Amino acid sequence: MTTEPLLVVNELSTSSVWPASAVSAPGGDLSVAGVSLLELAERYGTPTYVLDEGEVRSRAWARALPEAEIVYAAKAFLCRAVVDWIEEEGLGLDVCSAGELELAATRGFPAERIVLHGNAKSPQDLGTALRLGVGRIVIDSGCEIARLAAQVPAHDAQQVMVRVLPGIEAGAHPKIRTGAEGQKFGLSIANGDAEEAVARILGQPQLELAGLHCHLGSQISSPEPYERAVRELVSFLVRVRDRFGVVLPELDLGGGFAAAYLPGDAAPAPAVYARRIRRALTGACAEADLPLPRLTVEPGRSIMAPAGIALYRVLAVKRSGGRVFVAVDGGMSDNPRPALYGARYTVRRVGRASAAPMRAATVVGRHCEAGDVLADGVELPEDVRPGDVLAVPASGAYQVSMASGYNMTGRPPVVAVADGRSRLLVRRETFDDQRRRDVGL
Ligand code: LLP
Repeated sequence: MTTEPLLVVNELSTSSVWPASAVSAPGGDLSVAGVSLLELAERYGTPTYVLDEGEVRSRAWARALPEAEIVYAAKAFLCRAVVDWIEEEGLGLDVCSAGELELAATRGFPAERIVLHGNAKSPQDLGTALRLGVGRIVIDSGCEIARLAAQVPAHDAQQVMVRVLPGIEAGAHPKIRTGAEGQKFGLSIANGDAEEAVARILGQPQLELAGLHCHLGSQISSPEPYERAVRELVSFLVRVRDRFGVVLPELDLGGGFAAAYLPGDAAPAPAVYARRIRRALTGACAEADLPLPRLTVEPGRSIMAPAGIALYRVLAVKRSGGRVFVAVDGGMSDNPRPALYGARYTVRRVGRASAAPMRAATVVGRHCEAGDVLADGVELPEDVRPGDVLAVPASGAYQVSMASGYNMTGRPPVVAVADGRSRLLVRRETFDDQRRRDVGL
């Protein structure tokens, strides 16, 4: 058995798309955290999502920014075991619904380490947050200020932040760019909405303004937009100080740090983002004679994507229009990202070695749409056939969490691997689960 890692990961670019624990195994197999992917496909069926626990716990962000609060964005993927891992690694949790909050609460996650987001928080979201005592609620519109203040019990004060729009365009796709004007998130600095919100919050004794928040977007593969955001936010902190005489103690830069999906993708290591953000922040604060605010970042994808691998079994292979289509037993119901954002993935056959040459193929799902393509233009062995297992790396974030009930195929299970062992975290959704919700007869 060969034991060399698949790719060397350096600090500048975490260009390996496989977890650090991945090693080639005999017979064309791959093992992750000491567990064979072929055995996992056989034991848990397919499609299945595998999560390398050690990779999730790797603490790269905590090491890169020891002075900051690292808040994991639960929307990337959350289940009870992940709540425990995040808690044990000392991170906070970013949630955006009562559901995510309640799940965290089932494990006793410390509420003061939770940040609640949302451009349209429901009464249930706010009620749950106040009942559980979350640390921060991020105000995203003027109309939630009085509504929230009215719900905070007398003699109490809820810590809040204002989500500001710095007017910065960043992120891999228009649907996941949230830092510029003209989309639904945040309060504009440019048109005065952010300042107006600050004034109103400072006028509410039930609310305590802890600081500013921004989230530029997602899959941002350069530290440069964060430096600009730091400068914009620090000049807004100065404006708040000068107009209201208040020095806000916290700055939350959100998430959005890129993960590598294809070998060679630009995905700077946390240490690289951290260095540049720290330098921009200390520089801007020194220039403005402001004390350094406490920094928070909210990585989701960069923690979870590299830890996940999707396993599928090939159901059909066909040629059409000069292309080779390899159809698998999952698709857009467990991974809507290619259809939604044009996301690209790489695919590897595992568990069957052959001398067949590689050829270009299009891996498609089983759903009833021509757009149900998982990975286009990937290289697979020419002899790929029904029954083969395909592994898709960088699958830990926004796949299972966005999985749907389309075509009633059932959402896939999630299996953790660590120290040569596997355990089921989330079981497969069965037909029975689906039928039980159908209560209309
Ligand atoms: N903080 C806030 C306020 C957010 O809205 C998000 C993500 C994050 C942090 C974490 O961002 P990350 O580090 O994971 O990029 N479904 C899309 C991604 C949507 C991201 C939404 N907000 C995708 O599959 O690419």
